[in-house]
Amino acid sequence: MEVVIKIAVLASGSGTNLQALIDAPDLGAEVRLVVSDRPDAGALGRAEAAGIPSRIVPWGDFGSRTEFTTAILGEIESSGAEAVVLAGFMRVLSDDLIAAYRNRVLNIHPSLLPAFPGAHAVQHALDHGVKVTGVTVHFVDEEVDHGPIIAQRAVPVLPDDDLASLHARIQAEEHDLYPKVVGAFGRGQIHVEGRMVRWQ
Ligand code: GRF
Repeated sequence: MEVVIKIAVLASGSGTNLQALIDAPDLGAEVRLVVSDRPDAGALGRAEAAGIPSRIVPWGDFGSRTEFTTAILGEIESSGAEAVVLAGFMRVLSDDLIAAYRNRVLNIHPSLLPAFPGAHAVQHALDHGVKVTGVTVHFVDEEVDHGPIIAQRAVPVLPDDDLASLHARIQAEEHDLYPKVVGAFGRGQIHVEGRMVRWQ
């Protein structure tokens, strides 16, 4: 595998997006570290199985968002990671990390932003009755689910969809899209000017 960029992946949950990055044959990036705020995150087992170092930084160990973020930033910097990939990381990071890794923090979100930001995007799409939702990969800025959009994929909402069925089809798109975006970013093919992102 050609290693172009070293990344740290932050994950709170099952880690299927982390797994997609691990399994991508031509990712062009090396996952140097996996960080989770939750000791029971499935992502940690996936990291161990792949031989990737991991750290647990429990949210409850810290008195403020800034202290929590400082601890995570320290782990990322120690790993030598040049970019940060959020993959189902359910904590908001403070501005220090965003500033230290400006336009080098990527996130994947299960809606077509700016529709349905927040932690319940798939349910909100169902509740709203939209006919199309999807996936967004974006750079992280100081506002939640707000930064410059890198790539999007549309996913139709089917008449019989429930949360599980819709989220499963969204995740299938996520697992295809995220490695492609991370690889393109690692190879220097993605450029940001203000809110506009250009692919080369
Ligand atoms: C994904 O649906 C992602 O869009 C959202 O959190 C979920 C993480 O899933 N941010 P997994 O832990 O990668 O399976």
